[in-house]
Amino acid sequence: MSEQDDSITCRSTGLIHHPYRPPAAFEAPTQGVFKASTVYFADTAAMRSSRWIDKSAYTYGLHGTPTTFVLEERLATLEGGRHAILAPSGLAAITLVDIALLKSGDHLLLPDNAYGPGRRFAKEDLSRWGITHGIYDPMDAASLAAALTPATRLVWLEAPGSVTLEFPDLPALVRTVREQAPQAVIAMDNTWGAGLAFDAFALGVDLTVHALTKYPSGGGDVLMGSVVSRDDALHHRLAWAHSRLGFGVGLNDVEAILRSLPSLPLRYAAQDAAGRRFAQWCGTRGEFARVLHPAMPGSPGHAHWAALCKAAAGLVTVEFDPRYSAKQVDAFVDALERFRIGWSWGGPVSLAVPYQAAEMRGLPTPYRGTLVRFCLGLEAVDDLIADATQALRALG
Ligand SMILES: Cc1ncc(COP(=O)(O)O)c(C=O)c1O
Repeated sequence: MSEQDDSITCRSTGLIHHPYRPPAAFEAPTQGVFKASTVYFADTAAMRSSRWIDKSAYTYGLHGTPTTFVLEERLATLEGGRHAILAPSGLAAITLVDIALLKSGDHLLLPDNAYGPGRRFAKEDLSRWGITHGIYDPMDAASLAAALTPATRLVWLEAPGSVTLEFPDLPALVRTVREQAPQAVIAMDNTWGAGLAFDAFALGVDLTVHALTKYPSGGGDVLMGSVVSRDDALHHRLAWAHSRLGFGVGLNDVEAILRSLPSLPLRYAAQDAAGRRFAQWCGTRGEFARVLHPAMPGSPGHAHWAALCKAAAGLVTVEFDPRYSAKQVDAFVDALERFRIGWSWGGPVSLAVPYQAAEMRGLPTPYRGTLVRFCLGLEAVDDLIADATQALRALG
């Protein structure tokens, strides 16, 4: 080996095992991004005794770094819980709860207006593993009571429902489960409320799931989910299952959520205000048979929303008058210029998606016309109303 090669070899080792350590005292508004798969242990004794489950040590990137621990603590605070777990998407957070808490022979219940892919996971996958499910009408506690069985181990709540935005009587639903199925865990999809519109844990739920993809990210560019709980034993069941499933999250994505979290309440309030203005405008238009928005009097469950919440997310769904065909409604959506066509919500860009209620629900619904769900972004709401006004001309 030449002298030059030798010095390059020394340099490459030095680049990896460099002796420099920056001073520890560094404070800035944002948390540093600690990325790792491998985490070092001081010695083999430390390797054997380190515990990630109580956040007393780091063991492997999948089990947490300072960056994920900080986001988890902040999310637990946001939702009024004590523990948080990160998952690669909101849907992964939902399936994590199902997989962690259910076994063959168990039964779970979902509201008829639950987020669709969570329902499909129960129907297509949990059923293959001997786990049965039922659907209840979230607007009728008696329907939930009738659907509970001695085998029911998990009951999902969602407020308001996906797309149709009916706001259930949450205290009555929680009471029904506690009285009739004390063995069941109550899980709440808290994405719409985002920890800001109402306090899910004060209602007595056991855990919340939050699609951080929506408001906590706020950018339309990150997929992540969380599961927040209060009870240590429940958290441990979820956390051990999470570690066995290998549901890791990317540290740059964690950083993006940490950066967006401080502005969450401001963005939520702005999108709430825009949603209410837009919903009021919808209410003045004869093309719409119904405007679905929990803060609008007349929207299903408005009184339940008013009893529990001051705030609302920026989602508005309209039911077109049944005299308009699905094709005409598609023409309206296609004519929108500011609203883009796309899934999800909570980002800066307003979105619109058409739906047919009959394709989404198992129980009878009152909706006969085509639905369009609008997600209000951060544009000037007058521009969005002007956009929807011009697009209505495409109905013909
Ligand atoms: C209410 C609700 N929960 C969960 C999810 C799933 O979130 P993700 O898109 O991060 O999987 C969504 C996504 O639209 C949702 O609307």
